[in-house]
Amino acid sequence: MKKICITGGAGFIASHVTEHLCHKYPTAEIIVIDSMSYAARQEYLAPLIASGQVRLVEVSICERSVVRELLRNTDLVVHAAAESHVDNSYKDVRPFIESNILGTICLLQTAEENGTGLFFHVSTDEVYGESSERDFSENDRMNPTNPYAASKASAEMFVHCFAKSYGLPIRITRANNIYGTRQYPEKLIPKLICDILRGRKFEVHGNGSAIRSFLHVSDFCEAVTTIVEKGENGGIYNVPALRDYSVMDVIRLLTRAMQVPLREVIEYGPDRPFNDSRYGVTGDRLVALGWRPRRTLEEDLDEIIAWYRENLGLYYQEHAPITTCSNCEGLLRLGSRRAGGRAPRAPVLTPGE
Ligand SMILES: NC(=O)c1ccc[n+]([C@@H]2O[C@H](COP(=O)([O-])OP(=O)(O)OC[C@H]3O[C@@H](n4cnc5c(N)ncnc54)[C@H](O)[C@@H]3O)[C@@H](O)[C@H]2O)c1
Repeated sequence: MKKICITGGAGFIASHVTEHLCHKYPTAEIIVIDSMSYAARQEYLAPLIASGQVRLVEVSICERSVVRELLRNTDLVVHAAAESHVDNSYKDVRPFIESNILGTICLLQTAEENGTGLFFHVSTDEVYGESSERDFSENDRMNPTNPYAASKASAEMFVHCFAKSYGLPIRITRANNIYGTRQYPEKLIPKLICDILRGRKFEVHGNGSAIRSFLHVSDFCEAVTTIVEKGENGGIYNVPALRDYSVMDVIRLLTRAMQVPLREVIEYGPDRPFNDSRYGVTGDRLVALGWRPRRTLEEDLDEIIAWYRENLGLYYQEHAPITTCSNCEGLLRLGSRRAGGRAPRAPVLTPGE
């Protein structure tokens, strides 16, 4: 593996995947393509950039001419860039169509033009829709029920289409909910932790009875390399977690771990327009390649809580570290650029650079 491109690598999951691929393929050149949306942080990649193995390029995957240059001679593209938050997709679906559908098409076109070795597409279990009665296998049909899931299902359709029409080598994952450090505090676990740390109330969607399965991000990273090394071209792979939790189960676990009374930290708000009761997927195909999930939420919570306690300043200006400035003799708040959620610009590479 000489050259790898990872899209969305300054976000939660793909920053961990980038780290994992750096360890797995220490001699590979790794280029991260990220538009640096509100969910991205350059800090996640800082040690890898400093080591010289990773270059971060701030550009949208929709910018075809730049992406074409970046993808030249790439052995592997891991495509994880996406608008990823269901609640946002109910408010405004346009960015989801642009990044998740049009962005994927643009990337597929450039991968096909460049003869990319393998296009690894990070999809989601949400493409199946709700699975209240049984777990879905990879042969079940897609039946998305929210705008985010519909955009991901649509993107997947184009991935399959490029495999059929142009023979592009593709592999796809459909994972359960993923948890870990660096997840933007809009999703259940990091939002609840950060709300508690900041003394704010956490709003539960509906009555909190929705069931979700939670997969540790390191289990997902292992799934990626297992599929890259042992999977089949054209293969779709579910990535299931060890067990299900209701939203209230997760809240109970977290409030207990943070030693706060549950009733004092939550309030009930309206449910989503449609909230899938559960997403269950079978994992036989991936297990047959030798992978299995190893981690549980219970064993990881303390570490995750400690990480958010340490890193609140990455997300909230009032928690950014304060230092004194010798020139202006005043207080300088490091990381205050985070106020609008925008990260610093990374250089855009010129062709051939
Ligand atoms: N979080 C989960 O539980 C979960 C589960 C299964 C699958 N997924 C999928 O995994 C992928 C990563 O999700 P995440 O939770 O890390 O999300 P995230 O929001 O933390 O990261 C997404 C990254 O994509 C980047 N991005 C968005 N639009 C872009 C564009 N047009 N061009 C370049 N970069 C762009 C963002 O800046 C961000 O860094 C997504 O494809 C998501 O659908 C997520």
